[in-house]
Amino acid sequence: MDHFLYRDGVLHAEDVGISLIAAAVGTPFYLYSSSTLLRHFKLFDDALHGMDHLICYAMKAASNQAILKLLGEAGAGMDVVSAGEYTRARAAGIPGDRIVFSGVGKTRAEMELVLKGGIRQFNVESEPEMRVLSEVAVSLGHVAPITIRINPDVDAKTHAKISTGKKEDKFGIPILRAREVYALAAALPGLKVIGIDVHIGSQLTELEPYGLAYEKVAELTEILRADGHEISRLDLGGGLGIPYENNNAHPPTPEDYGALIREKVGHLGCEIEIEPGRFIAGNAGILVSEVIYVKEGEDREFLIVDGAMNDLIRPAMYGAHHEIVPIIEPKAGAAYQPYDVVGPVCESGDTFAKGRPLPRMHAGDLIAFRSAGAYGAVMASEYNSRPLVPEVMVHGDQFAVIRARPSLEDIINRDIIPEWV
Ligand code: LLP
Repeated sequence: MDHFLYRDGVLHAEDVGISLIAAAVGTPFYLYSSSTLLRHFKLFDDALHGMDHLICYAMKAASNQAILKLLGEAGAGMDVVSAGEYTRARAAGIPGDRIVFSGVGKTRAEMELVLKGGIRQFNVESEPEMRVLSEVAVSLGHVAPITIRINPDVDAKTHAKISTGKKEDKFGIPILRAREVYALAAALPGLKVIGIDVHIGSQLTELEPYGLAYEKVAELTEILRADGHEISRLDLGGGLGIPYENNNAHPPTPEDYGALIREKVGHLGCEIEIEPGRFIAGNAGILVSEVIYVKEGEDREFLIVDGAMNDLIRPAMYGAHHEIVPIIEPKAGAAYQPYDVVGPVCESGDTFAKGRPLPRMHAGDLIAFRSAGAYGAVMASEYNSRPLVPEVMVHGDQFAVIRARPSLEDIINRDIIPEWV
């Protein structure tokens, strides 16, 4: 459930009519519902109730300061993957001891920044990284708390580009080598092993792959403990999927997921971390866009809108489906017709949907791409010199611009022409 519903014939975000926001901000823009963000966070928090746990929001999904602060104040930690994300999280007031640092390619500079600033743990992904981290920590007089990300070789049954837990994926260390890698970590002076990390992929719509992975983690916990390692924390990753299509598919809920965690690893007495991103932000955000032209093709009609692949790349990149709804509620019994919904970017790949049934549309009509809160704004670019679109957040009957649209001057003035040109 989210807070984007028709009321009095107009799509509302919580208690604000979206036409009103469009008139104030101009299109296209991202729009987030603060209540939906908080509600989704709380679902996870409740699902792990009674277990020692921390929900580390995977901020790569949507990293606006306002979103981070909102979730941080509700008690969220953060999963970060770069110096930029770490600094953003700290700027939003998240304490270092609630931040976990993931990623296969952490640099020395990033390690230094994070060790000096304070960190809950590093999720280490390889032996070379482990050696470098130990060196950096020793040079700073620190000991870095680590988990090691294991690759359990489990098929997450999701899109190939976002599957991360199979042996051919670049992530983690093969579970078969876990004992020798933990032994190495224990021998390095700058590291303190505290647990195990696993993340098998994103947009998982079944629990079974999680079950398989977490069973392996539980088994490994016992083995490593027998080897003398202190395994007191399990980072179980993110990836719980969301419904993108109105097709009555019901992916597992955080409650189901929490029950699975309890079943598979609850007996180990470990502190549990999870790293959901999409589930928290995805259906808490939409991209609002205006129809520029309705164009007659030879065998189809094109709805040319002012949002494009540079603003929301998921359809072009993953063939992802986003529901498209008019901001003005269609009249009961309105006739629907198929449209190819496209943006203005000069590539045929700039297509959001083909043959999508919509009521008759006209230039100037507003539409919303639903489920765009995660991996939307954060993956946007300025391709075709299109400015990054603003982000807006609603809270009850209030709304605020949480990132302004840059001016064309701002964009152009970032370039530097050397004197010899
Ligand atoms: N933890 C780690 C280590 C991750 O790599 C990811 C996502 C997450 C947590 C959060 O996963 P989530 O709960 O959001 O599924 N751009 C793609 C998704 C890429 C996901 C990358 N890693 C998309 O638009 O579908």
